[in-house]
Amino acid sequence: RNNFDQQRQKTLALIKPDAYTNIGKIIQAIEDNNFTINNLKMCKLNLRDAQEFYAEHRGKPFYDELTNYMCSDFIVAIELVGNDCINQWKKVMGPTNCQVARVDAPQSLRAIFGQDGVKNSLHGSDSATSAKRELDFFFSKQSQLKKTAIFKNCTC
Ligand code: PPS
Repeated sequence: RNNFDQQRQKTLALIKPDAYTNIGKIIQAIEDNNFTINNLKMCKLNLRDAQEFYAEHRGKPFYDELTNYMCSDFIVAIELVGNDCINQWKKVMGPTNCQVARVDAPQSLRAIFGQDGVKNSLHGSDSATSAKRELDFFFSKQSQLKKTAIFKNCTC
């Protein structure tokens, strides 16, 4: 393996309910930042799914608000591949709180697409270990996630 192979990583990018209607612009930004999209799934979580996905935050004051919010509407799960892409994606997203992002990193995606401290538009994996777990959650063959690509308002 050469250096290039060693630096190549995967991460999970999630477009949250407040931002899925901006999917076109967000995918454009992903491409502009030289990530490769390996997999993509639009879906709706139920509360149990959201609680499992955010299990590491169970007990924190924002856990109920976060998990309820994450199952309030569609989300888009995206597998990104690229060199050092866990950190690179975090950088492109910007600070977790989008009000902070608008001051400290005005070009970041959370600054552009986020609405408030809860509706911060995007998620990214924290580490290689969480990337593996989170990518499996959405994309493994064993994934329990049943509800995929339901276009609830389609009338045609
Ligand atoms: S921690 O405790 O430092 O790990 O938390 P943090 O990394 O800042 O945030 C973890 C995820 O929780 C979301 N969050 C919140 N949601 C709702 N309300 C409040 N107050 C709140 N604070 C943090 C935050 O957006 C992170 O979500 P993800 O999807 O992981 O980015």
